[in-house]
Amino acid sequence: MKLILLGAPGAGKGTVAKQLTQLDGSVQISTGDILRGAVQAGSDLGKQAKAYMDRGDLVPDELIMGIMEKRLQDPDCKKGFLLDGFPRTIPQAEDLKKLLVKLGIKLDMAVNIDVPRNVILDRLTTRRTCSNTKCQAIYNVKSMPPKKEGICDKCGSPVVQREDETEAAISHRLDTYNKKTAPLIGFYDKEGMLLTVSATSSEAVIDAIKKKLRA
Ligand code: AP5
Repeated sequence: MKLILLGAPGAGKGTVAKQLTQLDGSVQISTGDILRGAVQAGSDLGKQAKAYMDRGDLVPDELIMGIMEKRLQDPDCKKGFLLDGFPRTIPQAEDLKKLLVKLGIKLDMAVNIDVPRNVILDRLTTRRTCSNTKCQAIYNVKSMPPKKEGICDKCGSPVVQREDETEAAISHRLDTYNKKTAPLIGFYDKEGMLLTVSATSSEAVIDAIKKKLRA
């Protein structure tokens, strides 16, 4: 699979991507996870990105394109990849299109996971994430709690709330999504490669993707 996963913060892009990787070995590429790893490592990229992320703003397109140009050429992408949180702006989508032509890669589709705003707000305030940057498993205190409270089932590290999960940052991320990222739905529709799935269950989203890929 070579997919783009679109959707508002909290729509379930990360959750669906992690489940899709189990199907055929495609890799999940989450720009959010890469940036959080860089912040935790204190790298130059992390230092540049942190303030934007804490406010709920997008990190500048040039930084993101620099990361993605390298990442898409890693050997593990040959099996397939699920782009989670990228592209996020029209300039990123245009640059990605050029980059894919240059690399000779053809995408299957862009999947827009459409979830009502009240569900999103509830999910984001109750999400917890594994603090180990190599794991970054996603939990939810209501719908998908870890077996042992506060501890990751997969690696045993503490499960924490993300720094951009304050009420102010969540509201700003949703506004930023509406202004800068939602226009990508029209962009990929025009390209003839959009699949919109209006569903709150990850299984329903995955079934719709499988059905479309088979077709
Ligand atoms: P990023 O990490 O990409 O955050 P996001 O897009 O805001 O998306 P989220 O990770 O918040 O949500 P998600 O849709 O993956 O939902 P999840 O599966 O976790 O980006 C963070 C920041 O990095 C950005 O604000 C920006 O600053 C920067 N950045 C990243 N990429 C960038 C780019 N390309 N350009 C510029 N800046 C960039 O699910 C949410 C919760 O719901 C979880 O608790 C989960 O357990 C639960 N849940 C999910 N599905 C279900 C379900 N079916 N039923 C019940 N609960 C569910």
